[in-house]
Amino acid sequence: MYFIGIDIGTSGTKVLLMDEKGAALRTHTEEYPLYQPENGWAEQNPADWWEAVKRGLREICEDGMDIGGIGLTGQMHGLVMLDQQNSPIRPAIIWCDQRTGKECAELTEAVGKERLFDITAAPAMSSFTAAKLLWVRNNEPEHFKRCRHILLPKDYIRFMLTASYATDVSDAGGMQLMDIQNRCWSREMLGALDIDPALLPALYESSAVSGYVQSKEVPQCLQGVPVAAGAGDNAAAAVGTGVVETGKAFTTIGTSGVVFAHTDQPLIDKKGRVHTFCSAVKGKWHVMGVTQAAGLSLKWFRDTFCEKETDDANRSGQDVYKLLDEKAAGSPIGANRLLYLPYLMGERTPWLDPDARGVFFGLSAIHTKSDLLRAVMEGVSFSLSDCICILKEMGTDVGHMTICGGGSKSPFWSQMLADIYGMQVYTPACTEGPAYGAAILACVAAGVYPSVEEACHALISHTRTYTPGADAHKYAKNYSVYRKLYPALKPVYELLK
Ligand code: XUL
Repeated sequence: MYFIGIDIGTSGTKVLLMDEKGAALRTHTEEYPLYQPENGWAEQNPADWWEAVKRGLREICEDGMDIGGIGLTGQMHGLVMLDQQNSPIRPAIIWCDQRTGKECAELTEAVGKERLFDITAAPAMSSFTAAKLLWVRNNEPEHFKRCRHILLPKDYIRFMLTASYATDVSDAGGMQLMDIQNRCWSREMLGALDIDPALLPALYESSAVSGYVQSKEVPQCLQGVPVAAGAGDNAAAAVGTGVVETGKAFTTIGTSGVVFAHTDQPLIDKKGRVHTFCSAVKGKWHVMGVTQAAGLSLKWFRDTFCEKETDDANRSGQDVYKLLDEKAAGSPIGANRLLYLPYLMGERTPWLDPDARGVFFGLSAIHTKSDLLRAVMEGVSFSLSDCICILKEMGTDVGHMTICGGGSKSPFWSQMLADIYGMQVYTPACTEGPAYGAAILACVAAGVYPSVEEACHALISHTRTYTPGADAHKYAKNYSVYRKLYPALKPVYELLK
């Protein structure tokens, strides 16, 4: 019997086929565009996600395959609005969109700062769904009026597969309409914001069955297959890396970067610098810090400045990121005194500032593309290190650190993380993080394992360890300058608006 994980990522959708023993047998990724109609805005077409899912499923499925379940995961927070006919009313406003400064103030005013923390474990967040919904109500009232259902990205795919409107507790927390401690929708939030509860999907624990495939647009072998509620991409990555008990943590470098720690209790940072959400493990939580533009910084650099390397990679059949790694490695630690702040899409941890923007600091005529590339990777790693500092300050145990996501495929970047964190980091045998975690959730939903923890114990192993090297201390100087840059620049970011 096989299980499928579907990850609706920001740069593309990954579909993964796993067998009962946890071997990831096939994966297929389909890319799609990210639209940025204005500085700080970010949108995607739900139809692009669905096309990518259908193509991916056709690639990995064969006639007659015995599929035991599908698990869904994906980018969190994105707002999908459906009309009476279940058609998307407008493009989805996704997680990294930062247009909602005004709506965050409105949200705080309506609920009260303290209550907002008590209920949703966070201050008003421009990345979260509630503020995006208020933006549509304020700026596109005709769209808001037509809205009958609100869904998150992976839940739109669930709807297309099963015709059910449902979500899971780990992803729903990022809508900022949920009572995080009690794992249910918050009547108080909905009342204060005047949002009709009927717009919201049904709420499940991640390993519950949420519906059965009935779409005729996907391979026949999937008909009637149970679909697990699944999890937000970070909660699913936790399952896929075995971060399901206290003491375990992971770092992921995807489009965004996240440092995530499992907790048995809903620990909350009263300054709102990290998020507390329900875990994909029943009755547990997690705390996580977010770097908005982690892999996105490198992808932006590649797309903007690395045409030659991209051509070379295409010609030689190599991965362009491997060539970029080699180039970055040509620059010494500290990138010849060049720093990069990765705030291309504002920043969450630790500054919570939608108006922050990226910076190269210390540019000199001696700098080469190698230095710039290395500075980008170091800047992202410093930002992730900022996340760790806050998790530790809260008393969270991050002692066992796994790495996953696209960035973990780079031994160069993985070593840099071990050096900057000053601790060992481990690579799991399967580095497919969220998609793998979603497939494991499908396995639990189908009853193959009695719990997420037991599935992880049986299926997850680590294959490689990176230990801080003898030169690790050389990062300290740039990191201390890095930490001073945002506070120094804050007053001038205002002027750019
Ligand atoms: C988490 C977050 C991102 C997205 C996209 O709060 O916004 O990690 O889930 O990956």
